[in-house]
Amino acid sequence: KYQVIIDCDPGIDDCLALLLALKSPEIEILGITTVSGNVPAALGEKNTLKLLNFAHRLDIPVYCGSKQPLKRDYVSAQDTHGMDGLGESAISEITTVQPQKLDAVSFISQTLATRTNVTIIAIGPLTNLAKSLQQQPIAWQNCCDLISMGGTFKSPGNCSPLAEYNYWCDPDAAEYVFQHAPLPIKMVGLDVTRKIVLTPNILEYIRQKSPTTGEFITAITRFYFDFHWKQEKVIGCVINDPLAVAYLLEPNLCQGFAAYTTVETTGKAIGQTLVDSQSFWHRSPNSFILTQVDAQRFMHIFLQRLIKATDP
Ligand code: BDR
Ligand code: CA
Repeated sequence: KYQVIIDCDPGIDDCLALLLALKSPEIEILGITTVSGNVPAALGEKNTLKLLNFAHRLDIPVYCGSKQPLKRDYVSAQDTHGMDGLGESAISEITTVQPQKLDAVSFISQTLATRTNVTIIAIGPLTNLAKSLQQQPIAWQNCCDLISMGGTFKSPGNCSPLAEYNYWCDPDAAEYVFQHAPLPIKMVGLDVTRKIVLTPNILEYIRQKSPTTGEFITAITRFYFDFHWKQEKVIGCVINDPLAVAYLLEPNLCQGFAAYTTVETTGKAIGQTLVDSQSFWHRSPNSFILTQVDAQRFMHIFLQRLIKATDP
């Protein structure tokens, strides 16, 4: 089994990524860590507990992480995900679980220091990861796979002309991780995630096959559907984060190339990923940039796992 830490900012599509991971028997989730991104980290922790409660998996520990980016002022994405981060779905709070005393950064560092072959899937800004790398660079040798949803190569940005939200939110953390992680980052950026669209007919299919899961996803995505329609005249919503999980399960799902990448930390292009695809800088690759995805295959995996499993 893959031993996985999921670092996230739930977030509507984060919830879908967590659901996919929870319904994948190949994955053992060691812990879920939250970071300020779509919503503040403490709210992300509450949302994670709501999701785990829905999936009857409150046994999985959740650790609250960084409240602020490393240097920049924090800007949430509550315009996209709703004030509650779950599309204003009014799901009740979970009060039966005591919050973990350990913070997310310490949890990541301790896990890496005491285990080998740990996979990290990061689907929010990289603040927690950067801090852990700063604290425990040697322990990071035990990270065997690092998959990050973020950045973009040729596709336009989603919160500035050039930048994707997770790296834009904390560009200094993203840059730190790209430059200092002891293994290449598998970058699941907008070039591939933009192809993953949850449409009303797919949602209806989920509802028919698995009403409980269907109702839950409908509740959290309604706001997201409206946002996409108003902003981009897209029917349905782009769900970025689950692709990072699916890519771990099935690497053939995506194609890409190894390259040296750096993240802009100042100026108008802040948060932009500069991918040296032509090796102008003669640097060894610190990333593997995904450029193509079999979106139909993704949806097949996603639906099969969400629906085949009996309703939680
Ligand atoms: C990323 O930003 C967030 O809004 C989503 O949850 C996803 O992780 C997409 O740019
Ligand atoms: Ca996210």
